[in-house]
Amino acid sequence: MSIQDLTTSAEVDSYLAQQNALDLLRFITCGSVDDGKSTLIGRMLYEAQLVFEDQVATLLKDSKKLGTQGGDIDFALLVDGLAAEREQGITIDVAYRFFGTDHRKFIVADTPGHEQYTRNMVTGASTADVAVILVDASQGVLTQTRRHSFLASLLGISHVVLAVNKMDLVNYDPAVFAQIESDYLAFAEALNFASITTIPLSALQGDNVIERSRRTDWYSGPTLLGYLETVEVAASNVDADFRLPVQWVNRPNADFRGFAGTVAAGSIAPGEAVQVLPSGQEAVVETIVLFDQSLPQALPKQSVTLTLDRQIDVSRGDVIVAKGSPCEVSDQFDTSLVWMDQDAGYVGRGYNLMLGGRIISATLTEIKYKVNVNTLEQLPSRSLALNDIGRVTLSLDEPIPFAAYADCRDLGSFILIDRYSKATVGAGMINFGLRRAQNLYPTQTTIDTASRAKLMGHEGKVIWLTGLSGSGKSTVADALESRLHAMGIHSYLLDGDNIRGGLNKDLGFTEADRVENIRRTAEVAKLMADAGLVVITAFISPFRSERDMARDLFKPGEFAEVFLDVSLDVAESRDPKGLYKKARRGELPHFTGIDSPYEAPESADLRLDTSELSVEECVDRLLDLL
Ligand code: ADX
Repeated sequence: MSIQDLTTSAEVDSYLAQQNALDLLRFITCGSVDDGKSTLIGRMLYEAQLVFEDQVATLLKDSKKLGTQGGDIDFALLVDGLAAEREQGITIDVAYRFFGTDHRKFIVADTPGHEQYTRNMVTGASTADVAVILVDASQGVLTQTRRHSFLASLLGISHVVLAVNKMDLVNYDPAVFAQIESDYLAFAEALNFASITTIPLSALQGDNVIERSRRTDWYSGPTLLGYLETVEVAASNVDADFRLPVQWVNRPNADFRGFAGTVAAGSIAPGEAVQVLPSGQEAVVETIVLFDQSLPQALPKQSVTLTLDRQIDVSRGDVIVAKGSPCEVSDQFDTSLVWMDQDAGYVGRGYNLMLGGRIISATLTEIKYKVNVNTLEQLPSRSLALNDIGRVTLSLDEPIPFAAYADCRDLGSFILIDRYSKATVGAGMINFGLRRAQNLYPTQTTIDTASRAKLMGHEGKVIWLTGLSGSGKSTVADALESRLHAMGIHSYLLDGDNIRGGLNKDLGFTEADRVENIRRTAEVAKLMADAGLVVITAFISPFRSERDMARDLFKPGEFAEVFLDVSLDVAESRDPKGLYKKARRGELPHFTGIDSPYEAPESADLRLDTSELSVEECVDRLLDLL
């Protein structure tokens, strides 16, 4: 075993490239809090006399020097976390350690066990071959054990070690071990791991970590390190079709134009023909560059730069593939999604999706079910809370090249990002692309928007009123429509209370239902505006996200967001329907402003303070806006 002194990121990368050629096992340790994970890892490193802290310290220094992560340690220099997450520059609370024995090199991803750290588990596991799942012998199989096992299976890890730790606390009792093993196997049967190896351990005492323990003479299986040194994992995907997601276009000067990224699968050599997706343009590889070296071939996991024999348009997020064997392209996906944010995810809400360096608008269109990790039962749901794992359909604004996660982890894993906070809210795996949209061929109608507008005498538009209950939306909307009508303008007023009596009568006032309420209303408004009507909507529409979604359906100038801005006190003192009183008495749950939030617009097209302006003054301003 040797500890490399890696002083620059280039050296780190090239070290890793070399390691890839050796037999390298990536594994993840996971479990619940206090199950002795750190002790176990410490014990392994210590007993094998492999103290890598220096190496990590070197890295820390280099990350600072290079400034790639603004002074944070950039472990991504060394390992591939979820590529997308790394790209986003998020600090992930996963410690990667590197060690080796005479038999093998190891990278271990150590992830904290708290429930809120599911994200780290996902990040660490996305590149692992083996999961070591720790169980405290005195506690047995816990929810967290099951959650992590389920995640490991979703993430495509096929080999699991159930490390039954703290055997010293149960006097090395074989019956305790056997019970935990059978509990676990009963649960894990449905997860389709290729192998599950259960090992009795005491990380504290050193039993069966490296040395076989005399205190477990009833156990005949391998020690943990013995297992890790010999477990056979799937061969690399070098024989698969070539896939290179372009991370950036490298153009140091006018003469050089290279496309850089990490090979996700397969290999390529200079002289071979490639295609760029989604555009489909073709070219021939001229050179393959790794730092200042020219390579005869690019292999999986190598970070390379390709130059091509002709000028073609390639941008970040495109995928370079071997000519004649393209990957799929789609804009709708069936995915397995792990929710990682305090704020729940809702059907109908928009997020940014990042896959292979590309960021694209996505809508969570359906939650088929979420999984009870203890029973693996599939539960219906319209939202995903922190740590929920669901089967989810996503719809993207544009088609992107991808692969099923099972076929290619790099092209099949993605993260979802909140559009406002920029936080990572979910991590997912693509199960397959949906062809729903591919089989739709929107009909080009003879009578189009412009011809309808001509007949109407004006164009269609949407005036979107938002504000608290009692802010005056319905009153102002009604007065505006009367004025428009008198002017001979064709209009329609969509009012929350009315629409909720018909089209949306299946919806209540939970966040999930409000998201859907606004989604449907925005779609209806779009159709009506396309028909040539001036549409006025009067909905509380409390969430910025859905108001923006509505706006995004329209061209600039077609949609105006109008904020009826009154304080909660004013709205509550008006209380035209007596609902605030009811809500204060606790008889109306989820009432906006009381126990359900209202996110005021930050850049509305018009703000009307109805405590200062008369109804007619409001209408005047709206007509000015129109
Ligand atoms: S939104 O939040 O989904 O946009 P919408 O505007 O459709 O709400 O409906 C609001 C109307 O529903 C209110 O004007 C009020 O009459 C009624 N209502 C009933 N329950 C609630 C509630 N919990 N919160 C707000 N409005 C409610």
